[in-house]
Amino acid sequence: MKITVVGAGAVGATCADNIARKELAEELVLLDIKEGFAEGKALDISQTASLLGFDTNVIGVTNDYSRTANSDVVVITSGIPRKPGMTREELIGTNARIVEGVCKNLLEYSPNAIVVVISNPMDTMTYLALKSTGLDKHRIIGMGGILDSARFKLYLQKELNCSPNDLHATVIVGHGDTTMIPLTRLATLNSHPVSNLLSADQLKKVSDDTMVGGATLTKLLGTSAWYAPGAAGAALVESIIRNERKVFPCCVYLEGEYGQTDICMGVPVVIGKNGWESIIDYKLNEAEQAAFNKSADAVRSMNSVLSTLVA
Ligand code: 2OP
Repeated sequence: MKITVVGAGAVGATCADNIARKELAEELVLLDIKEGFAEGKALDISQTASLLGFDTNVIGVTNDYSRTANSDVVVITSGIPRKPGMTREELIGTNARIVEGVCKNLLEYSPNAIVVVISNPMDTMTYLALKSTGLDKHRIIGMGGILDSARFKLYLQKELNCSPNDLHATVIVGHGDTTMIPLTRLATLNSHPVSNLLSADQLKKVSDDTMVGGATLTKLLGTSAWYAPGAAGAALVESIIRNERKVFPCCVYLEGEYGQTDICMGVPVVIGKNGWESIIDYKLNEAEQAAFNKSADAVRSMNSVLSTLVA
């Protein structure tokens, strides 16, 4: 197997690091436009191999897409990260052009690859990747919900004082501070609904903290997070490469599912060797569906800006 990660910044390098440690590919290419940067990150990751006990050939390249040829999975992390006080949506002007160009270059050399999009604003960048490449919808997957769900589980874990591994909790819809929906009604601690274990106030706090999970980190770090986004990207790639058929909330193209059409948004999907295989219907209640629709409106209005930015 061969995997390419584009963008050797903090998220891309962390994602590559996790992919290397998990030995998901014989060859892992890390590509960046900054001269020597990806080479340096790849060398640094490679030097941990004997310490951590993995055997993945990690190659860094400066903007040479021919070296990414025949990748099975490509991960796009390119673009600028947000600064404190910025929303993910404010990145669209810069990142749309970058992501469109990266997609074109990648597909020229790896026409059969499955494309994972992490760049922000992720829902719109996933839609752009789909529209600009014309690829089969199952091969374009945006990573946001896995990360948001991991944050959701952490805040639940803190309230419940439990093992994170006993929690099932999902965040769906847009990957935006005000557009995501932590599904508290469906979250469980080993099949026990957390709504039986926590008060309404506690659930609201968990939900609120989850929604601003990325913004909280951006404020603390001065830039956006990388450990959890990188690990979440690698978990998604793992389910593809190992054909695990895990159910993850991912941003995919909707054609009527959840009442939405011609939009990429986060919904629970089965992830396997062909990309996303099917969408699972969580049978939202009226309030959840209303929140879903509101989030879709926000994502759709962001998508409408694309025509002014890219060819
Ligand atoms: C985050 O939420 C980078 O969007 C990413 O941290």
